[in-house]
Amino acid sequence: MADQTALKKLAGYRAAEFVEDGMVVGIGSGSTIAFVVEALGKRVAEEGLKIKGVPTSDKTRRTAAKLGIPMHNVDDVDHIDITIDGADQIDENFAAIKGGGAALLWEKIVAVNSRRNIWVVDDTKIAPHLTHYLPVEVIPYGAEQLFKRLKQKGYEPTWRLDQNGNPVRTDSANFLFDLHFDKMPDPFKLGRELTSMVGVVEHGLFLNIVDQVVVGRDDETIAVFD
Ligand code: 5RP
Repeated sequence: MADQTALKKLAGYRAAEFVEDGMVVGIGSGSTIAFVVEALGKRVAEEGLKIKGVPTSDKTRRTAAKLGIPMHNVDDVDHIDITIDGADQIDENFAAIKGGGAALLWEKIVAVNSRRNIWVVDDTKIAPHLTHYLPVEVIPYGAEQLFKRLKQKGYEPTWRLDQNGNPVRTDSANFLFDLHFDKMPDPFKLGRELTSMVGVVEHGLFLNIVDQVVVGRDDETIAVFD
């Protein structure tokens, strides 16, 4: 049985093959996507692949640029052909939770502006139902009040903290709460409810977004079509 990192690499390299010359490519965030970036960097250096990258986080922008991938702001490109991103968990209806790496807002902006979305995961991320904690990005002003309202609803929020115990700031300088459920409510209903709450910027439920999922599983890569 291959370890999780090996499966991430296998799937990441496979997903990078979907990228073609001349494409504008949304590039996700996280440890799985680090392998996609590595593979794309090699293709740029070795095959002369010409692409424009659109980052979903400052970290991705820096890493990809270092590997020779020209990076552009999402508002500076005409369109995005394909976005390759990771996920924290994907259910049997291809609904996903994202944001474990604190990049959910930019990830969702890039995803909804992309003609095609591919997610890359190792097979530990596939589950019949969503059970992962749900990240929610919130405006700092009034965050304590919003936290109380989420708690009253029984959503068991926790502050996302860094290693020094300070609130994590996203690339848009917002805070993150992680919601914990005994049983995840209907994701569409929950998503609508969270979006309607003043102070919530975005939540980590990615619904009706993905076109294709590449799963690294036991030394072979399995592409699942939606
Ligand atoms: C970041 C994300 C990542 O895609 C998700 O957390 C998966 O990360 P990893 O590949 O490191 O497991 O949503 O906000």
